[in-house]
Amino acid sequence: MAEMNDIAQRIDRLRKEIERHEHLYRIENLPEISDPEFDRLVKELEELEAEYPLFIQTDSPTHKVGDDRAPGFITVSHRVPMQSLDNTYNKEELFDFDKRLKRLLGDSDQEYLVEPKIDGLAINLIYEQGKFVQAITRGNGQQGDDVTANVRTIRTLPETLPGAEHIGLLEIRGEIYMSQEEFEWINAQREAEGLPKFMNPRNLASGTLKQLDPKVVAKRRLEVVCYGLGAVEGIEFTKQSQLREHFSSWGLPVVERSWCVSGIDSVWEAIEELDGIRGEFTYPTDGVVIKLNDLASQVEAGSTSKAPRWAISYKFAAEQAETLLKEITIQIGRTGALTPVAELEPVEIAGSKVSRATLHNEDEIQRKDVREGDWVVVEKAGEIIPAVVRVITSKRSLDSKPFNFPLRLEELGYDAVRVSGQVVWRLKSTENPVQLRRQIEHFASRQAMDIEGLGKEVVKQLVDHGLVRDIIDLYALRAEDLLGLDKFAEKSANNLIEAIARSRDADLWRFIHGLGIPLIGAEAAKLLSIRFGSMGALSQTRPEVLNSIDGIGPKMTESLVEYFSNQVNAERIQRLYQEAGLRMENQLEVPDETATLAGKTFVLTGTLPNWTRDQAKASIQAAGGKVTSSVSKKTSFVVAGSEAGSKLTKAQNLGITVLDEDQLKELLGES
Ligand code: IVH
Repeated sequence: MAEMNDIAQRIDRLRKEIERHEHLYRIENLPEISDPEFDRLVKELEELEAEYPLFIQTDSPTHKVGDDRAPGFITVSHRVPMQSLDNTYNKEELFDFDKRLKRLLGDSDQEYLVEPKIDGLAINLIYEQGKFVQAITRGNGQQGDDVTANVRTIRTLPETLPGAEHIGLLEIRGEIYMSQEEFEWINAQREAEGLPKFMNPRNLASGTLKQLDPKVVAKRRLEVVCYGLGAVEGIEFTKQSQLREHFSSWGLPVVERSWCVSGIDSVWEAIEELDGIRGEFTYPTDGVVIKLNDLASQVEAGSTSKAPRWAISYKFAAEQAETLLKEITIQIGRTGALTPVAELEPVEIAGSKVSRATLHNEDEIQRKDVREGDWVVVEKAGEIIPAVVRVITSKRSLDSKPFNFPLRLEELGYDAVRVSGQVVWRLKSTENPVQLRRQIEHFASRQAMDIEGLGKEVVKQLVDHGLVRDIIDLYALRAEDLLGLDKFAEKSANNLIEAIARSRDADLWRFIHGLGIPLIGAEAAKLLSIRFGSMGALSQTRPEVLNSIDGIGPKMTESLVEYFSNQVNAERIQRLYQEAGLRMENQLEVPDETATLAGKTFVLTGTLPNWTRDQAKASIQAAGGKVTSSVSKKTSFVVAGSEAGSKLTKAQNLGITVLDEDQLKELLGES
């Protein structure tokens, strides 16, 4: 019985973990683990569910397609669901796929189409009478986001299909991606501007497609490849391989090569050939898709709730190597998160030396049973940090002991908690010197307050000497304080003090980013800075307002709300403003013409029934409006509450529209 409980718990944890990674990958575009690692989690869950059918649930991630819908788009139902694909990294499983189909369809060799698997985002392109009318993302497979305006910016996608005018409905399924070249070009520009770089082309393509402003999308060149069909009326196909010819004749972009072969052995040869040339494709390719070529046989084979039985993807493994794990150390992040790190005997993977790899969190160590002194398989995939994949247990020494994460934290003297329902351990107080150092390093970095001369070494000394116990102490430093430190003379000390002083006028986004709020990077900080204008307005805002901002996802909103509701944080910001004299004002001049209240000026007067004046101000600013203090002919609206005085009279005299709180909310689209 106890064992059954253990299994139920393992299954539950795996499901939660998979859902968390799905979210990070599809919604936040910030994956923590590589695709192969994610696929392994799913596989482990599948195996457990197969062994213990008692625990099968219809809403398990093994039964449904991940959801990539984002706020701000209209949801549209698919006429024909958009499914996922079963995948494997293993030749034997690929051959099993063929055996299953033979059992279903008869023993003779099946005809297959082998194509590159494009690492992008699935899209449904709808043409009526040969005219492009709508583009919908996969969403949850049943319903997706209408991203038509964004897809229209793709230059290689034809608006009309010559010769298809007689076809009532054509749903073309394909993949949106960004070329490596475009990705590198955008990153090079960002680097030149001192902005953080994007992680990989797939994340950038996904983040771009989910932009609410098509003008932003048009600036980043997205591309599309077409490979399949959804609903169709007015044309019939019999073979999968016909699609490519038709698509091509209509001017739709297709894969440059596919292999139509008979029997699974020939499929394998095609895969090997494709692996040899995939570096030349313009799109990122992470594997191969193998499909039954005969469309009637596809129908006969059918699908599960998640994926067709007539297709499978074979993915190319990431690069791996074996090495010795010497020690598990704990890394402290600037938010106080404690991440276990494997210190490795250096080993070369995919052309670079790897000496450290992440172990992610306590649950991952337990799941893989990673111990100090083990031989492990380390993997490096794409831009993701190297990770320990598994232990080679046959090489384990007899006296090895399981790694006890909480015990190690105790030995290190870390006073930490694991928040229930979460996988991370965090330091309880923020007084740990390492965390403080990370915070200050980040605050001073080029990407944040850009304080020249305040690098790692200096920060360490300031903290070790007790000169700085909080960010605010930086602003009380005097040149004399620095003279006792290593490598400081009068000139360098004065320079640093001046650089710190100059940072008082830093742009608001630099300050927001410098605070190190989880999930809020420089990009998000800029959006917030432009929308709110000042720290006061931002810290007063409500979650609905944050959520309505294009580019701020629900997780980010949650993180901001949590940050500002913390007393210590709120006080620090207050003191930095009042005592240290930081300006905290937006200086980016980027008026958002598409915002609902762009160009409108408001004056607030009197007491509103539900909102404080700061809240009303934050909402107006978030919608692109301006708030001023005196009424003039230029004022667009006066918002009046009870006990409104001379401003209301003046507005009435000038014939300016007066709103109450409800009318303001209506204008903001919040009623
Ligand atoms: S056929 C029912 N062909 O991979 C799904 N899909 O991991 C049949 N993909 O959702 C899809 N390249 O977005 C097909 N040549 C290709 C593909 C491809 C990439 C995507 C597709 C699918 C996902 C599954």
